[in-house]
Amino acid sequence: MKWHNKVTSLLNITYPAVQAPMLGITTPAMVAAISNAGGLGSLPVGGLSPDQTLALIREVKALTNKPFAVNLFAHTIPTVDQVAFGAMKEFLTAFAAEHGIAYVPPVPGQLRYYTYHDQIEILISEKIPVVSFTFGIPEDDHIADLKNRGARLIGTATCVEEALLLDNKFVDIITAQGSEAGGHRGTFLTEGSPPMIGTMSLVPQLADAIRRPILAAGGICDGSTMMAAMMLGAQGVQIGSAFLVCNESSAPNAHKHRIQNAASNEAVLTKNLSGRWARGIETKLMRAISASGIATLPYPVQQSLTAPIRSFAQQHDLPDYQTMWAGQSASRAVRRPAAAIFQSILEQAQAAFEQVEKHVQVRDRD
Ligand SMILES: Cc1cc2nc3c(=O)[nH]c(=O)nc-3n(C[C@H](O)[C@H](O)[C@H](O)COP(=O)(O)O)c2cc1C
Repeated sequence: MKWHNKVTSLLNITYPAVQAPMLGITTPAMVAAISNAGGLGSLPVGGLSPDQTLALIREVKALTNKPFAVNLFAHTIPTVDQVAFGAMKEFLTAFAAEHGIAYVPPVPGQLRYYTYHDQIEILISEKIPVVSFTFGIPEDDHIADLKNRGARLIGTATCVEEALLLDNKFVDIITAQGSEAGGHRGTFLTEGSPPMIGTMSLVPQLADAIRRPILAAGGICDGSTMMAAMMLGAQGVQIGSAFLVCNESSAPNAHKHRIQNAASNEAVLTKNLSGRWARGIETKLMRAISASGIATLPYPVQQSLTAPIRSFAQQHDLPDYQTMWAGQSASRAVRRPAAAIFQSILEQAQAAFEQVEKHVQVRDRD
């Protein structure tokens, strides 16, 4: 099968497969492993400081001279509602005390949030070849700046309307993020419940509606799901959960173990941990916040409020209070080097393609 297509030529890669950016999980070694294997590794830097952003980019560059993407969050920072903040803080303080968790809540005036505005100059001066983003669209000037410097842009859509906006902004490639996907929904047109369109429905709808090539994301975990997505109209895939437990993943062992042993219905949607809808394995912390009935704060304020509990849990190996983002196919992930996982997905896709060809020939003869 010939892999060369619009996506490979726009991104200057061999195979139309992107390792999804996964903040907190993806390491420079994972990014480099996929780029060196002929795909596109993606370095997540959403919300990180300029210093951290630069250091991570330099780490990737030390490991590969192949193209890779840097992934930004294109959201705005909300003002903090002091009353709501106080109510959530009080609840989390009591919850932490009850469960033996040391909790020092953040102080609203001392919260410092970085946005892509703080990072974009670094990406430009480091000549990053591919910039992907989620949670919105960068401002027109920033899009123009990046494109004028030769960067390719990948935006995230969770419905046709978001994809049309990205298309009109001349974003080069659009990731169709189906509802199966692990981690945060990229949704940016509504603050209410996000669109929950599965990859199988979203990809063909986008293929009909927009001119740009599409990457299918959500549930792509092996060769047959990759091939299915391409038959639905995607020109490539973005794969996240399949790399959650790979050797280069920085997921804590408890997270890796839990993912591999999760039942098929355990990756649920919540906005309790961060203030944005995201899919992950249900935990005690998520259930307790839901049961409290207390309103969550918008992203990333809620994230800051729960962070001390989640990092204490990570340090003390307490899976019930950690963040365990995972997609609906995450339990199929395997512990192997990222490049071996990538290679086997491509080989399976090749075999799936040949099977389909054979099947079509057989049916033709009937
Ligand atoms: C742990 C985790 C963290 C994620 N972090 C990001 C991120 O930083 N930026 C982003 O654009 N998408 C992020 N995502 C979403 C992925 O890019 C992608 O859409 C998703 O993993 C695809 O679905 P799959 O998990 O079924 O493969 C994350 C997903 C996971 C599982």
